[in-house]
Amino acid sequence: MSSELSITQLISQLREQLQQHNYQYYVLDNPTIPDAEYDRLFHQLKALEQEHPELITGDSPTQRVGAQPLSAFSQVSHEMPMLSLDNAFSTEDMQAFEKRLYDRLKLVDDQVIEYACEPKLDGIAVSLLYEDGVLVRGATRGDGSTGENITLNVRTIPSIPLRLMGDGYPVRLEVRGEIYMPKQGFAKLNQIAEQHGDKPFVNPRNASAGSLRQLDPKITASRPLEMCCYSVGIVEGGELPHSHTDILHKLATWGLKINAEMAVVKGSTGCMEYYAELAERRNELAYEIDGIVFKVNDIGLQQRLGFVSRAPRWAIAHKFPAQEEITRVRAIEFQVGRTGAVTPVARLEPVFVGGVTVSNATLHNMDEVERLGVRSGDSVIIRRAGDVIPQVVSVVQERRPEGTEPVQMPATCPVCDSEVVRIEDEAVARCSGGLSCAAQRKEALKHYVSRKAMDIDGLGEKLIDALVERELVHSPAELYRLHHRQLASMERMGDKSATKLLNSIEKSKAIELANFIYALGIREVGEATARTLALHFGSLPAIRAADEEALQQASDIGPIVAKYIVSFFHQQHNLEVIEALISAGVHWQDIEVSDQALPLDGKTYVLTGTLELMSRAEAKKQLQALGAKVAGSVSKKTDCVVAGPGAGSKLQKAEELEIPILDEAAMIALLEQLNS
Ligand code: IVH
Repeated sequence: MSSELSITQLISQLREQLQQHNYQYYVLDNPTIPDAEYDRLFHQLKALEQEHPELITGDSPTQRVGAQPLSAFSQVSHEMPMLSLDNAFSTEDMQAFEKRLYDRLKLVDDQVIEYACEPKLDGIAVSLLYEDGVLVRGATRGDGSTGENITLNVRTIPSIPLRLMGDGYPVRLEVRGEIYMPKQGFAKLNQIAEQHGDKPFVNPRNASAGSLRQLDPKITASRPLEMCCYSVGIVEGGELPHSHTDILHKLATWGLKINAEMAVVKGSTGCMEYYAELAERRNELAYEIDGIVFKVNDIGLQQRLGFVSRAPRWAIAHKFPAQEEITRVRAIEFQVGRTGAVTPVARLEPVFVGGVTVSNATLHNMDEVERLGVRSGDSVIIRRAGDVIPQVVSVVQERRPEGTEPVQMPATCPVCDSEVVRIEDEAVARCSGGLSCAAQRKEALKHYVSRKAMDIDGLGEKLIDALVERELVHSPAELYRLHHRQLASMERMGDKSATKLLNSIEKSKAIELANFIYALGIREVGEATARTLALHFGSLPAIRAADEEALQQASDIGPIVAKYIVSFFHQQHNLEVIEALISAGVHWQDIEVSDQALPLDGKTYVLTGTLELMSRAEAKKQLQALGAKVAGSVSKKTDCVVAGPGAGSKLQKAEELEIPILDEAAMIALLEQLNS
């Protein structure tokens, strides 16, 4: 008898421990024990329950998965309707919303309304019902009055407690919130889908919906879903606090997840500030949001305001500009890039998405064209998030017109007619014409003159296209042979601009080794790699003489880049180009290479804000010359942040991570000290 009691105790102790660790891991994002330790506790509990099946309860952490598949979902009618939200799209809409509140509540101007602000998560609205602290039902919103019973599925989601923690919760408590799939989990899920040859999900919202609509809870369990709570429904046999944010914080004490970005602000001005701040960080968040929800924080005021039809008067969703839109593909064309890559591009009917008008979208390669199954004439969903280039997400099959044809890679280059070849295992097809192909010549020249390469001012894309088309320039060295007369006769060029351009071509002859290497356009050798090569080897002959192994001694140069570099210098044609440039007068100073480690080797710096004494490019160059890596964003790996006036989120992050921060003067002092 006594051993039975101790087993019961042991089981309940293990359950409590596991629940606590689960909460730390999935709700707070702050695990306190290693995964292996969690697994050990879990298996211990599982073994005990197997020996004593009579002691298994529904809220045991072992019981999340394992239920049998359903044949259909049953219906749930919501005792309290699950409402929707009105939308605002502008500051004016927000002001009008606030004015309606003032009118209805008969407030005067010096009274201020307090709002709770929350990201509007892009997932699926669900209701969880807890009775005596135990999760007894999970349901979708459905049409607001009737939803589907998805209890077995929600039980598999680790951030949803099967039993509430702590005490003081109402006897019946309905918690509402959004089930969503974080971006990272979504990407991984789609990666696996592709590996298995399955169709990927269009976006995290569809993936969440699809994952919850599974009759077999084991499938739901395998999907990276989370739930974030944003309101309550039924509250019986207990009391909740009197403000929205206090209620949510109360839910958090019972082990439910709430949004860490939630804030309280004053007035619609405060709302707009919050909106702007989050809009800027939207793409950094771990999950997709499509706007901000503002709610009158005082429950008493909420009750006075009530609701109209399906939406409360006390809340509004201020939507971000859509990141996805639908448009039609006018044509699919093939572009030839600098390295000869023949890339399919969708020409689109212009569409406003993610804040800009988009009329082209790269389709990357034929694998992508096949994956999407896109054809000329199709209606497609275009996505543009943040600064990311616009993408074709999917084809709206139902809207495909008659008579469309699958896209085929042309057998010959659309520009020079040379054969297009696709090397096995490579996704990219290439024009075999090399620099005999006008498209490749144009792209090579555009790269050569670009700012981070030879920095030839006044030689824009249109002019290069025209110079190549008129056969005035075939290779970079020929730029140095251009005459004033030739340039002045080009379209939109005059006497003055021709003189100016000749001056900048002349000026570009004195260059730094790193820029010259970058200008050569070796595959995969970007600005940073070019600098590494220059600093590590010191001279062009030294780089040319290095084999793959020697190249990989330089930091951040891997086997693939090394191969490209060696192969570049093996091609007679490339050596001739370099010779011709040197004969034309291009020159640089070699760099003294010492065997000693550089003082900032292995250190990562981030520059932010305005630098007033030195240009940002100069600061970057000097730091790199001392061995430092200069990165664009602050992370745990950052060693130092140089912050000038106007520094914002990067500085804030550095402070949070307690990374040393220098102002510009301190950086200059450091550079001087290390260079002396
Ligand atoms: S409150 C009465 N808060 O947006 C209040 N909804 O357009 C009803 N949503 O169906 C919802 N994040 O699925 C609220 N922080 C948030 C939300 C949120 C996402 C969704 C929810 C709702 C839809 C309304």
